[in-house]
Amino acid sequence: MTDQAPAPYAGNKRVLSGVQPSGDLHLGNYLGALVKFARLQHEMETFIFVADLHAITAWQDPKKLKQQVREIAAAYLATGLDPKVATIFAQSAVPAHAELAWVFNCVARLGWLDRMTQFKDKAGKHKERESVGLYTYPVLQAADILIYKATHVPVGEDQRQHLELTRDIAAKFNHDFDAEGFFPLPEALTQGPGARIMSLRDGSVKMSKSDPSDNSRINLTDDADAISQKIRKARTDADVLPEKLEDLAGRAEALNLIGVYAALSQRAAQDVLSEFAGQGFGALKPKLADLAVSVMGPIGGEMRRLLADPAEIDRILGAGAERARAVAAPTLAEVKKIVGYWGE
Ligand code: TRP
Repeated sequence: MTDQAPAPYAGNKRVLSGVQPSGDLHLGNYLGALVKFARLQHEMETFIFVADLHAITAWQDPKKLKQQVREIAAAYLATGLDPKVATIFAQSAVPAHAELAWVFNCVARLGWLDRMTQFKDKAGKHKERESVGLYTYPVLQAADILIYKATHVPVGEDQRQHLELTRDIAAKFNHDFDAEGFFPLPEALTQGPGARIMSLRDGSVKMSKSDPSDNSRINLTDDADAISQKIRKARTDADVLPEKLEDLAGRAEALNLIGVYAALSQRAAQDVLSEFAGQGFGALKPKLADLAVSVMGPIGGEMRRLLADPAEIDRILGAGAERARAVAAPTLAEVKKIVGYWGE
C-alpha cells in the first residue's frame, strides 16, 4: 500500500536530489537545497532521498544511522516536502541504486574520477587510507540520478562536477551499448539565492557540517537563543555598508550576511543592502537575527514534533521506497537486457 501519487508534472521532466545523513543540517543546506526541493515538487515529478549508501563512505555508527536518516527525512517534511506529492525515501531501501552503480563503475574511467575535486578535498593528504567507496562516490551518485532517468538535479555549486560526470557516464553508456537516448543527460540546478552560504566565522569557506566550530553555522535544530547568538557573534568588518552590491567586493563576511538576509526574506540582495546602506552591522545583525529566528525557529520545532513519532516517519519512508522501487525496476531491467545480463 502506498499513499504516494505522482504529482502533475511538465512533460517527462523529473527532479532528483538527496542529502547525506552524516551530521546536522544547517542554514546552507536549507537555503541551498531543501527550499528548492519543496518548490520544485510542484513543477516536476520529484524524487528526494536520504543518501545513506553514500554516508558510509566515511565511518557511521550503525546504532545511529537509522536515526540520522529519520532526521534528514524530518527536515525534508518540515521544510514543506509533501509525501503525497514527492517520493521521499532512504537510498538503502532501493537496491537498484547499487546495482546500477556497478555497471557504471565499469563505464566510468579512472581518469575521470581522478579529476574529482571533492574526493581530493575529502581525502586530503592520506588518500590511500580512504575507502574505495569514497573514490567511486560520484559513480553511485550518477546511478542515483539515472536509475530514475532524472532530468533536473538541484544541488549546491560544489556538486556541479559530479553532475558533469553523470552526463559523461550517461553519454558513454548510451554510446558503448548502442542505446542512443536511453539515459537522459541531466542538468544541475545550482542557481538561486542560497547557492553559496558561507561560514559565519570565515566568509571564504562554505558553511559546513564538518566545520569544527558550531558557531560557524546555524543548525536546523538550533533554538531561538542559539540562532541569535550565532548571528551576533558572526564575523564582520568595521566599515559601514555601502549603497551598491559591487562595493561589497572583497568583504566576504558582509556579502554573506547580506546574502543570507536576502535569501531568508526572499528579497534581492541589492534591495536589502539599500535598506542598510550607511549603517554598520550593529543595525543589521539584530534584524537578521529576528528574521532567522522567525524562519528557522518553526522548522526546528516541526522537526522535533515529527521526530517524536519515528514510526510515522518510517511509514512515510517505507511508502516512498515502495514507489521508488517501482519506478527504478523497469530501468534496471532494461539496463540488464542492454548489458547482456540475466534478468529476473
Ligand atoms: N553528493 C551529494 C551531496 O553531498 C548528495 C547526493 C548523493 C546527491 N547522491 C545524489 C545529490 C544524487 C543529488 C543527486 O550533496
